[in-house]
Amino acid sequence: MGYDPKYPRAHYDSLGIEEWTRLTNSRHGELNFVVHMDVLQNHIEGSMAVLEIGAGAGFYTKELVHMCRRLVVTDISKVQLSLNQQNMRELGALNLVDEYRELDLVDLSSLEPESFDAIVCVGGPLSYLLDKESVGVQQMLNTVRPGGIIVLGVMSLINSVVRLMHFISPTKKNRGLANTRWLLETGLQDREHNTETEHYCHMMTSADVDTLLDLDSVEVIEKRAAGLLGMAGENALNAIRGDVELWNLIVDRELEWSKLPSSLDLGENLLYVIRKR
Ligand SMILES: C[S@@+](CC[C@H](N)C(=O)[O-])C[C@H]1O[C@@H](n2cnc3c(N)ncnc32)[C@H](O)[C@@H]1O
Repeated sequence: MGYDPKYPRAHYDSLGIEEWTRLTNSRHGELNFVVHMDVLQNHIEGSMAVLEIGAGAGFYTKELVHMCRRLVVTDISKVQLSLNQQNMRELGALNLVDEYRELDLVDLSSLEPESFDAIVCVGGPLSYLLDKESVGVQQMLNTVRPGGIIVLGVMSLINSVVRLMHFISPTKKNRGLANTRWLLETGLQDREHNTETEHYCHMMTSADVDTLLDLDSVEVIEKRAAGLLGMAGENALNAIRGDVELWNLIVDRELEWSKLPSSLDLGENLLYVIRKR
């Protein structure tokens, strides 16, 4: 099945406010957030015009508004965009967002070419494009200026398999062995191979992302594993969350180990920072 925007739109319209609490109501979410913030703080500068794609309810919008000169916030889901506005209003930050637009990553043609210094597309918008992933990458490259950067986060296949291992057996029961093999080997949860959910997406390995970004116009400047230690599981992390000294040590290790090349595929999200040549 090719990409059809109606599925991610419907999925995120129905999720509603869950997107706002995604990174605070779990310890693995907290660790994931810390790495994203480290990357954003290292690469987003106060002088920049920034485009946020797939901004959701605004968990990063609320940070980006204070980090750049101009911020345009976009998402494919009307519901997420309106939650984003509501959340920014409650935080007194709505006037810091320059513009909101309902936009699909596969078509950014309504934006002025090369008009942004940076694009932030994290939390997996690219993971919904299926056969249009390269189109999405190209659209971002058209929209950022030469020398500008793109912070790109996708869902990790290996981390998902580890964390959701208990679903593998029911998956085989419901979808059969061949479709389970397809899911594990390709990371693709598509219509042809699954009838249980309309959450069609592509969980990726670093090999998938490296292939997508293997372009003359792209220089990869950083790769990070975000949410690596989340693999310990919520019970184990909750047991130490109350001990501030110990939790800070874990956060410190999450940040350091997220930089190791060998960690990359184990993070919940694979986070790439690329520069347009
Ligand atoms: C997991 S949420 C991430 C939200 C936010 N970036 C974050 O990290 O908290 C994914 C977001 O991508 C949006 N999205 C999915 N497909 C998209 C597409 N084709 N174009 C733009 N946004 C899309 C969804 O509506 C949703 O808000």
